[in-house]
Amino acid sequence: MNDTNVPYVTLNNGVQMPRLGLGVWKSKDGNEVEAAVTAALKAGYRLIDTAMVYGNEGGVGKAIRASGIPREEIFVTTKLWNSDQGKDKVRPAFEASLKRLGLDYIDLYLIHWPMPARDLYVETWHEFEKLYADKKVRAIGVCNFEVEHLEKLDKHSTVTPAVNQIELHPRFAQTELREYAKEHGILIESWSPLGGTKGSILGNEMLIQIGKDYSKSPAQVVIRWHLQHNLIVIPKSVHAERISQNIDVFDFELSKEEMDMIDSLETGQRLGPDPNTLNGN
Ligand code: A2P
Repeated sequence: MNDTNVPYVTLNNGVQMPRLGLGVWKSKDGNEVEAAVTAALKAGYRLIDTAMVYGNEGGVGKAIRASGIPREEIFVTTKLWNSDQGKDKVRPAFEASLKRLGLDYIDLYLIHWPMPARDLYVETWHEFEKLYADKKVRAIGVCNFEVEHLEKLDKHSTVTPAVNQIELHPRFAQTELREYAKEHGILIESWSPLGGTKGSILGNEMLIQIGKDYSKSPAQVVIRWHLQHNLIVIPKSVHAERISQNIDVFDFELSKEEMDMIDSLETGQRLGPDPNTLNGN
């Protein structure tokens, strides 16, 4: 029994994943992240997305364990950091994440960046396949992989990533990667779905106008845009009222025309690092 109105999507291995969750990048470990996760679980969120490098796995796990919600009803994602790529490093890094979270399995474990110049992601993926075979994780996937990185994995491995989590928002909608993923049974999950903090799109007049017709905020309009593009979406907030607002998006639907208008915000400009050139820690 799930006390949530968030719909689920079925991953390529049959596992069910909520289509909307809480992102916690930049949420401080301790009170801040614990309060955010607690508010999210109360509001009906059942997907929490953290990473080793966010430094808040401890707080995330604490809030999950304190919630009283059965573990199997919460979908927990964490990510392997760059310095932990490579054959002998993955398993200890995974066990350390598990320990910080205070959990005995992870729902979705992701490689955080491909780091193509270091060329370790294929051997790292083979270790992920072992974690999956050992049932330590219910699904495995990647983040920030470009088409060529996905093609290389496809060529040299047996398990297709369930998810590719990438920077995606109306200004950077990643059409090519979305098409590739669709053809290969990989689901796309949007990070910085609201367009991040720098020069936020949430003040955009068109989004404000569209929202007014539905009595919704620009953030809710953008979250709806992700959902209607069949993306998994993980808006970040540390404010309880915004956390509640961001999940209150299942009682309206954008028209085709409104979706097209929002699509037209595309600039081709990333906010974050380029996966082809980020190779450090
Ligand atoms: P805060 O944590 O202070 O609420 P993204 O998920 O694209 O990275 O962007 C999240 C940013 O937008 C965060 O800075 C977050 O700040 C802010 N934010 C999240 N939800 C809302 C909302 N409903 N309205 C306005 N700003 C929001």
